[in-house]
Amino acid sequence: MSEILSFIESNKDRYESELKEFLRIPSISTSPEHNGETRRCAEWVADELKRIGLNNVQIMETAGHPVVYGERLDGGKDAATVLFYGHYDVQPVDPLNLWTNPPFEPTIIGDNIYARGSVDDKGQVLMQLKAIEAHLRVSGAMPVNVKVIIEGEEEIGSPNLDKFLSDNKALLKCDTVLVSDTPMFGYDQPSLCYGLRGLCYMQVEVTGPNRDLHSGFFGGAVENPINALAVMISKLKDENGLILIDGFYDNVTPLSEIERKEFARLPFDQKAFINDLETDASPGEEGYTELERMWARPTLDCNGIWGGFTGEGAKTVLPSKAYAKISMRLVPNQTPDEIAKKFEAYFNKIKPAGITLKIIDLHGGMPAATPIDSDGMNAARKALKQVFGKEPFLTREGGSIPIVNSFTTILGAPTVLMGFGLPDQNAHSPNEKMNLNNFHRGVKCGALFYENLKK
Ligand code: BES
Ligand code: MN
Ligand code: MN
Repeated sequence: MSEILSFIESNKDRYESELKEFLRIPSISTSPEHNGETRRCAEWVADELKRIGLNNVQIMETAGHPVVYGERLDGGKDAATVLFYGHYDVQPVDPLNLWTNPPFEPTIIGDNIYARGSVDDKGQVLMQLKAIEAHLRVSGAMPVNVKVIIEGEEEIGSPNLDKFLSDNKALLKCDTVLVSDTPMFGYDQPSLCYGLRGLCYMQVEVTGPNRDLHSGFFGGAVENPINALAVMISKLKDENGLILIDGFYDNVTPLSEIERKEFARLPFDQKAFINDLETDASPGEEGYTELERMWARPTLDCNGIWGGFTGEGAKTVLPSKAYAKISMRLVPNQTPDEIAKKFEAYFNKIKPAGITLKIIDLHGGMPAATPIDSDGMNAARKALKQVFGKEPFLTREGGSIPIVNSFTTILGAPTVLMGFGLPDQNAHSPNEKMNLNNFHRGVKCGALFYENLKK
């Protein structure tokens, strides 16, 4: 194993230039204008899987962006089989003017590489591929069986991946799923995550009069859809942060006392948290700490709101339409379908006269809870300790990886969430970056993970 670790140590420069190549491809899954680039990215991944020595590499079509598959079944029938999952798609880059360097021209400054996708998730995908490559280059074989799927639709809710798993159940049969797409608690604070929130993402369209009107001529006798929408949004939560949608909390699994104690032991620094955001408080649901609220309580947030006149200067208009995008983060055992129905029913209940509502369910994702004592978790815990020299923290996260729940329900395999991002790495924001030391530590952890799983 020490030979593998020194191989990794002496290949850092090559890894960084390969990462740059991967990051130069603008694989924005939500943007149809980028479909060609997204496909080119899938091809890059397939070539990379071949280069590192995987067999049976395929670009597998779905109704959307393809999944890239590869495998190496050296371990034989009695060895464990790991399915590594990651995503090659990235989020949009707007607002572009807030980027210091162009998002698809990766730039290394100090210990960080800046680019869209650097931490979410291309950097973390490549580190795990380099971990496999290190085994194959040094010893010519993997200590266990490995299958790899890298998808291109995670950032749009993985709409075609459930079907892909069901259709390819035999091909994807495994004992453990490995995912590197979560943050560490902090630099030098390695973490294993055992829970993710789900998501229910809705769009509301409010129509008042059939056309835009003169607000002097008509104002006072017509319901304004922007005013109505603002009032409806204000009725979604009370002043203590409680969500008022009927039945919203029905299926929420409460935090256990043990879990609350464990969260409280984590070195969360509230002052540093708000200082970093240049704000003066961290408000939220009454009765819960920040970590509890971000990791284990459901939320409701407006993601966008528009309508009427937003140009420069003043225009006295009474608009016909108003819109909002509203998403809810879910916790076990809420489901996106259940919450979408409750959201729609509540909006219709509080709707004033004089408007019509159109509510669209944009997408959803299931929350996930993974076991903390599986073989995979133990192998990961040991790997993190070997590389970082300390026990990892056990964390949950507030973000969502919709497919993790399906690994349990469709493939029957527990997932290990061993991630190497950091809280300040601007995922989904301008100036996204990946810490390169963590990249290289991640490669080593990946390599040790497979070694530790060997029976
Ligand atoms: N890597 C993130 C998930 C994540 C973020 C996990 C923060 C832990 C902490 C993933 O790529 C992501 O952004 N997921 C989306 C899912 C959605 C589009 C269905 C999310 O959480 O918004
Ligand atoms: Mn991700
Ligand atoms: Mn993401």
